[in-house]
Amino acid sequence: MDQAFQAVPITDRVHWVGAIDWAIRDFHGYATTRGTTYNAYLVVADRVTLVDTVKAPFRREMMARIASVVDPSQIDTVISNHSEMDHSGCLPETIAAVRPARVLASANGVKALAAHFGDLGCPVEAVADGQSVSLGGLDAMFVETRMLHWPDSMFCYLAGENVLFSQDGFGMHLASCERFADEIPGPVLRQEAAKYFANILLPFAPFVLKTLTRYRDLGLTVDIIAPDHGPVYRMDLDWILSLYAAWAAQEPTRKAVVVYDTMWESDAVMARAVAEGLSAGGAGPVRVLPMRAAHRSDVATEILDAGALVAGSPTLNRTLFPTMADVFSYLEGLRPQNLVGAAFGSYGWSGEGVDRVADALKAIGVDIVAGPVKVRYRPTAEDLGNCRAMGREVAEALVGRVGSG
Ligand code: FEO
Repeated sequence: MDQAFQAVPITDRVHWVGAIDWAIRDFHGYATTRGTTYNAYLVVADRVTLVDTVKAPFRREMMARIASVVDPSQIDTVISNHSEMDHSGCLPETIAAVRPARVLASANGVKALAAHFGDLGCPVEAVADGQSVSLGGLDAMFVETRMLHWPDSMFCYLAGENVLFSQDGFGMHLASCERFADEIPGPVLRQEAAKYFANILLPFAPFVLKTLTRYRDLGLTVDIIAPDHGPVYRMDLDWILSLYAAWAAQEPTRKAVVVYDTMWESDAVMARAVAEGLSAGGAGPVRVLPMRAAHRSDVATEILDAGALVAGSPTLNRTLFPTMADVFSYLEGLRPQNLVGAAFGSYGWSGEGVDRVADALKAIGVDIVAGPVKVRYRPTAEDLGNCRAMGREVAEALVGRVGSG
């Protein structure tokens, strides 16, 4: 086995045996600019348990880390907290190699694993919400966390070691050799945790709130939160718990986001004028994101804690500019809440683009409170004044909702 890859102790009986993906830059449409990790954990009690696995191409790395602790053939139980392929991709090969006595998953997880892999060649048993299972001197308790991030998802709490395995929950796409959150600069952690929440968990914000309430009600003693992506939390757990509570609540702030693309710079100068108006009207911070320079997942991240979204598009062949259609489609799926906004755009002949912007904002759920500003070819000084006034109007509506705080 490759001795290059070693397990990292998390507690006396829990080891990180995952893999670091330094190269990934696209995670189903999300720009993972800092790579990611696929975290798997080995619990060594009277029996040996593997908690989750890794994306298929990284099985060798995981197996080597396992082998640095125990002979992999000693694995008795595999827990599959979430069956998405980044955590289950190498499950069939792992099962074939180690021949565990059982795989444990939620009832939905059992179905999802069967749908992905057919017969895995070993018993796949459903565990119920709240059920405890002995791992041989240590008990694992399962908590269903449906829609965080899939219907099959569950948390697993390891009593005695006080470890909560939270799969996608509290995770982030961040490749690092440092395994613990306290070893990583705070601004990087916050940025990547927010980006992960905005791009993966935002549509399920009500389920996040429900999970946080359940977590509190269970009154578990948790010293460590061990997610399936990014670093492990071993101190100041309230930091990530309270961020999740705030992001899931989707309370609007005075932050405003302007998103646009441009053909001949008309929409670009209009966007800048809108931003000036937003700022003058009391919004702030104001972020301007040209879609030639920003990725859709950066837009989602900026919107996570914003209260306003103003968008502009040229008309191209009687509809939206393609980059704007892309970001609108993405945001509609993510379902951000509690936004006010407005539409703008320039056109040459027929001008449907601005109407499509307004339609798209409404489809996302944005409350249109001003505009639109629609300009033929190049904006005049009066047109730019109208853009500024529209930005100001949006800001005033926003401040009216959230206060000038
Ligand atoms: Fe990391 Fe939903 O998979």
